[in-house]
Amino acid sequence: MKLLSTKATCNSHGQDSSYFLGWQEYEKNPYDQVMNPEGIIQMGLAENQLSFDLLESWLDKNPDVGGFKSAGKSIFRELALFQDYHGLPAFKNALVDFMAEIRGNTVTFDPDHIVLTAGSTSANETLIFCLAEQGDAFLIPTPYYPAFDRDLKWRTGVEIVPIPCNSSNNFQITESALQQACEEAKKRNLRVKGVLVTNPSNPLGTTLSRDELNLLIDFINEKNIHLISDEIYSGTVFSSPYFISVMEILKQRNYHKDSHPDVWDRVHVVYSLSKDLGLPGFRVGAIYSENDTVTAAATKMSSFGLISSQTQYLLSALLGDKKFTKKYISKNKKRLKRRQSLLVSGLQKAGINCLQSNAGLFCWVDMRHLLQTDTFEAEMELWKKIVYEVRLNISPGSSFHCSEPGWFRVCFANLSQDTLNLAIKRLRSFVAESFPAAAHHHQSRESSKTRSLSKWVFGLSSRVREQEER
Ligand SMILES: Cc1ncc(COP(=O)(O)O)c(C=O)c1O
Repeated sequence: MKLLSTKATCNSHGQDSSYFLGWQEYEKNPYDQVMNPEGIIQMGLAENQLSFDLLESWLDKNPDVGGFKSAGKSIFRELALFQDYHGLPAFKNALVDFMAEIRGNTVTFDPDHIVLTAGSTSANETLIFCLAEQGDAFLIPTPYYPAFDRDLKWRTGVEIVPIPCNSSNNFQITESALQQACEEAKKRNLRVKGVLVTNPSNPLGTTLSRDELNLLIDFINEKNIHLISDEIYSGTVFSSPYFISVMEILKQRNYHKDSHPDVWDRVHVVYSLSKDLGLPGFRVGAIYSENDTVTAAATKMSSFGLISSQTQYLLSALLGDKKFTKKYISKNKKRLKRRQSLLVSGLQKAGINCLQSNAGLFCWVDMRHLLQTDTFEAEMELWKKIVYEVRLNISPGSSFHCSEPGWFRVCFANLSQDTLNLAIKRLRSFVAESFPAAAHHHQSRESSKTRSLSKWVFGLSSRVREQEER
């Protein structure tokens, strides 16, 4: 008899994969400006550490909140006992207002249709438990966030079928890619229950266009399936084209709850404060669904991953301060934009281009010209050199199920500006020493193309000089 369950001993959580090599190496030899200046720089972590000072200064000005007091009186006992899985009404109200504010108040969210969860991780899994059976499938555009393999598949037994996107159209979702995914699901004998998109995308750092969103709505209508929109990066959109939530598309198509209840029943949004506020440790996420059955079932399931009451209390006060949230969103975006420009222009000097992005905490970096062969083996070889020789932990495209070898995700918001500059310097020396022809050829080729190619980002030195507003 087996001592443990198959689930406990199988590897479908993905955390034993070879991609953990970069993390293991980083753990053994982490960079520190003073203690370990030759160490590995962590650029594989999609964390936002650029605006902690704003949160800390708010906490300084509101000592009652951190001390669990309200109007000078302790509310410790109330908070210690609160365990209603519907969540604190004040927090739900503040959260839906914040979500609307991020979307430029083009849409509103009803607090009765929000389910609080311990981060987007829990929100995504809970939704999958509500929408699909073991052996059903969700379609996801590639490249996608690697932990979806854990979050959507591991405990639910649901499968992921990739919607293969590629660089020929900047990884946009097309009708033919959706059809390809359907055919693949059919071949694997899987019933498709829905599509999951991440908007803005991790790892691309781009937002879905109106056309793509309309295509997705047409597709789920035709197939009578669900659409989950993971909008965890919605507050990080730092330049145009600006963010369009799937909720805004429903509104624009004049799909009202009473005229098109079937569509509203099949579209669900996932959100979290892990990226926009940089609070992954607080474990604050949410499902927004106007499907009453989904909301009711997900609320019951949320018992397995609630947000603690003291966290809800603290954040209801912080998000309830509208003057603060407005300032925070705007400053945080400016800082992200400046960082992204720094990375893009620095890499460009090394002859490396990035997909033009307008959101996120990372760039999607094109190193196809540095591969020995056009294969994922060559991508792995290059990645190992970057981890061991350049001492940067970046993430290879294959870990995001990218269909083309040679792309890497490089994070820019989890480290200091000096560390980012050092990382760029190391990468530049590496390219100049190891690939002199590639660096030179690439640079001269690109400089002649700069004017005509608008979809790729080159020489953004003017943007880099932009004032950092702190
Ligand atoms: C697309 C996407 N969804 C979900 C998550 C999980 O976030 P959380 O910390 O809210 O669980 C991440 C984190 O990187 C992510 O990138």
